Amino acid sequence: MSSGLHPNLTLVQSKALRLLFTKLRDKNTSQVDFVQYSKRLMRLLVEDTLASLPTVEIERQTPTGLFKGLESTTIPSQTCVVSIMRSGDALLESFREVEPAFKVGKILIQRDEASADKTAQFFYEKLPPGIHEMNVILCDPMVATAGSAIAALDLLCQVKHVDPSQITFATIICAPEGLGVLARKYPEVKIVTAAIDESLNDEKFIVPGLGDFGDRFYGT
Ligand code: PRP
Ligand code: URA
Repeated sequence: MSSGLHPNLTLVQSKALRLLFTKLRDKNTSQVDFVQYSKRLMRLLVEDTLASLPTVEIERQTPTGLFKGLESTTIPSQTCVVSIMRSGDALLESFREVEPAFKVGKILIQRDEASADKTAQFFYEKLPPGIHEMNVILCDPMVATAGSAIAALDLLCQVKHVDPSQITFATIICAPEGLGVLARKYPEVKIVTAAIDESLNDEKFIVPGLGDFGDRFYGT
């Protein structure tokens, strides 16, 4: 399913995701359960993100007949999964469980929770050489103001010369405000998300959201 909020947005929906989101969003869910349920949810998101990449129609002989199927044309060694640390690392590991041959890149960007607009601050990057020739899967579970996502995309596109059309951004929950910012600055970036929530509150947290993903996943 798509939405009018961004021209390249895929909203993945299923009953399985809704069940997992119910556990994940519950403020009384323990850290151990949050990790377990988010890993299950991220695995579904990973499969849908990989399925959104280019495919070709193929036929395969089954033991009893002919099956008309699909095959991915993505070459893992020419694909780089980039996490926006720290929360993006959780999603990155789900991609690596499915395809260990993916290259890995890391960008440390943190929201300044003391600032009124929650400015994203860049601290560190480690990206493979030749990333501009690769397909890039950017990972961050949460898009609120999109300040962190824009900082990561600016680094990839303006400094590392990755074409925005080569980038797929995988994320669990987006706020409409953040999607609007991404639509204005990076309409060519493909976004795959499992939820588009109502809005941001005064502290720029997603409503209903799930709170601070990193704090709940890592127990800080
Ligand atoms: C969270 C989240 C995103 C960012 C989203 O990270 O993982 O990176 O906030 O907010 P934004 O769209 O308003 O930028 P945070 O900076 O809290 O760091 P963490 O992953 O270490 O918890
Ligand atoms: N980061 C999070 O983890 N959650 C939000 O709601 C906003 C930013």
